[in-house]
Amino acid sequence: MGGAHSHRACTVPSEAWTRSDGKNYSDVDVAIAIDHLTLAAASLGLGTHWVAAFDTGAAREVLGIPGDAEPVAFTPLGYPADRPQEKQRKEVSELVPLASTGDSR
Ligand SMILES: Cc1cc2nc3c(=O)[nH]c(=O)nc-3n(C[C@H](O)[C@H](O)[C@H](O)COP(=O)(O)O)c2cc1C
Repeated sequence: MGGAHSHRACTVPSEAWTRSDGKNYSDVDVAIAIDHLTLAAASLGLGTHWVAAFDTGAAREVLGIPGDAEPVAFTPLGYPADRPQEKQRKEVSELVPLASTGDSR
């Protein structure tokens, strides 16, 4: 990717919405935010890449992320240096079998 910037998505779990059963939605919020960012980027011809496999301690240190914020994901954002080949994608029905079978489980 030529001249890419990196964006980080952090969450502050103590400030996120929590469901009545105790489920904290901070990670879900981050996933929604990154998903919107990557879709918007793609619509503008920009490339991104979900990155979750990183050292959170190193990320905190290098980026100065405060203790109450949790780094969840990163993505580079820039114009792709090359154009990848067309990808072989699974059919939606393979990924979401319940929707295609009408199974009401
Ligand atoms: C939640 C999540 C985390 C990911 N973390 C990484 C990562 O740390 N490193 C990596 O190389 N790819 C990671 N990926 C995979 C890529 O970002 C990307 O989804 C994959 O290359 C497929 O890209 P495509 O959908 O454009 O084919 C992650 C994907 C998801 C959904």
